[in-house]
Amino acid sequence: MSPFHLTRTLPEDATDAALRADVLHGLSTAPKTLPPKWFYDARGSDLFEKITELPEYYPTRAEREILIARAGEIAAATGARTLVELGSGSSEKTRHLLDALAGLHTYVPVDVSESALTQAGQALIAERPGLDVHALIADFTSGLTLPDTPGPRLVAFLGGTIGNLVPDERAAFLKSVRSLLAPGDALLLGTDLVKDESVLVRAYDDATGVTAEFNKNVLAVINRELGGDFDLDAFTHVAVWDAGNEWIEMRLRARGARTVKIPALGLTVDFAEGEEMRTEVSAKFREDGVRRELAAAGLDLTHWWTDAEGRYALSLSMPQ
Ligand code: SAH
Ligand code: AVI
Repeated sequence: MSPFHLTRTLPEDATDAALRADVLHGLSTAPKTLPPKWFYDARGSDLFEKITELPEYYPTRAEREILIARAGEIAAATGARTLVELGSGSSEKTRHLLDALAGLHTYVPVDVSESALTQAGQALIAERPGLDVHALIADFTSGLTLPDTPGPRLVAFLGGTIGNLVPDERAAFLKSVRSLLAPGDALLLGTDLVKDESVLVRAYDDATGVTAEFNKNVLAVINRELGGDFDLDAFTHVAVWDAGNEWIEMRLRARGARTVKIPALGLTVDFAEGEEMRTEVSAKFREDGVRRELAAAGLDLTHWWTDAEGRYALSLSMPQ
């Protein structure tokens, strides 16, 4: 069997410290917010996989359609020997790239979810003898150090996860990705596109309530990790389109006035009846905006591919 390395680039207590800092800050500001990366414990990662199969949630299917159609072109344009994937999750769609990249030596999946990385990594090495899989448990927003592997490198950031960063975070993130690229390397970026509001809201508020469960999972993470006493049934899942920012906002709305205790932080938090806490933004993009954001980070957009319905885009960009 081919090698599988799993490296934790941050000590476990750093993750714990980051969760504490985020929850303390997010629940002490008005309006309250929580960063979306804390959705993804083992249950959250499973719930996300269920979301990708929902009839209302089109981005995964649209991106897979593009990957199937364009993987050969991506391979020809990049000749990648190392594929780095940020926020790789189940690495399910990535298989189309792995199949097409004939000279690929190493796959480096990077994720905060250890359960997702382990499951995906073990499956991949069983399927693909000869591929070196070097998984990294890391936060892609805080200064990644990549293993020393053969170039050219293709960094893939799929699923539209860049939309879960707000504009300032995106700018810093794209600059940090640019700093990882040498001449001849490339970035493959998945971006969901602006479209009809009703389609977008349905994708984030599905009929069977899977997205609601995913959204509330952040409260379960806080209860387990920090001893919180959030009652998940006391919050309602909300998904709204913010036309000014062109993003979907997921929120949790308190059904009644309540007080929540988080002993690990020595924190008592009051929620007013109907108070909404932001748990995620999911920005939707246009070609011009993507090109501009890439250029600001020192990247030239060279290819732009959409699915047949024009719902979603994959772009390839190279260092200027
Ligand atoms: N790329 C996959 C999964 C998308 S879900 C797909 O297209 O289906 C988003 C993934 O990013 C999850 O696996 C989550 O654990 C990971 N993630 C979210 N924020 C992260 C962060 N700051 N650093 C590293 N991984 C993160
Ligand atoms: C991972 N990310 C791109 C998803 C999205 O569509 O913003 C997360 C998600 N949130 C609700 N449904 C899916």
